[in-house]
Amino acid sequence: MNRPSVIAIDGAAASGKSTIGSKLARQLGYTYFDTGVMYRAVTWAALQGGVSIEDEAEVTELAESLVIGVTPPTQGDGRQYTVYADGQDVTWAIRQPEVDAAVSPVAAYRGVRRALTQQQRQIAANGRMVMVGRDIGTVVVPDADLKLYIQASVEERARRRYQERQARGESVTYEEILTSMRQRDQIDSHRDYAPLRRADDAIIIDTDGLDINEVMDRIERLLGDFEPASS
Ligand code: DC
Repeated sequence: MNRPSVIAIDGAAASGKSTIGSKLARQLGYTYFDTGVMYRAVTWAALQGGVSIEDEAEVTELAESLVIGVTPPTQGDGRQYTVYADGQDVTWAIRQPEVDAAVSPVAAYRGVRRALTQQQRQIAANGRMVMVGRDIGTVVVPDADLKLYIQASVEERARRRYQERQARGESVTYEEILTSMRQRDQIDSHRDYAPLRRADDAIIIDTDGLDINEVMDRIERLLGDFEPASS
């Protein structure tokens, strides 16, 4: 069997899906695409432009018109890629706590999801891609060749996010992150459109207590039966 041309990876915030996805993409020579940046870019643009997050029509219009670009990293400051919103580099701006706090309601709007899902499908059509998010295996690319669902407890995920933030010199407490993560989990998993859910045919990878090398070993064993895709 051929190596899968699209690998869909879904999971909750800080489940480890981005680390796993980018490593896997590098190993396979595939493109890595983190769909979360698109929801974050729309949220950032709304906050920046004074658009109320509660205003579904305005936020949807923004999602339909904002030009989001993702390129290989343009600076050596630890970024995995560079994200542009209407030409402006927002790679770090979209990781700010204000965006974390507002992104889940934005991602729950049907029109926002419709606009971004359409773009994500076009991107996935290029093939040889590892696409990461919440609804990739269920909605965006339901016929993906391989689907992984990454799980970890909320405490473990909050701990990881806390360490990341501390390493960046941000002042935030573990409790703040835990509370905000629980709120996001709640919204992401219970929204009406494309909630976070494991696809029936997704393979569960539980990362609690495993380091990244152990996780990658597991995934490599899964991929062992596949041959490289030719295009
Ligand atoms: O993975 P992340 O934390 O960067 O995602 C940011 C938000 O976007 C998160 O609240 C869930 C949402 N999201 C989504 O609804 N669907 C996706 N495919 C990716 C992210």
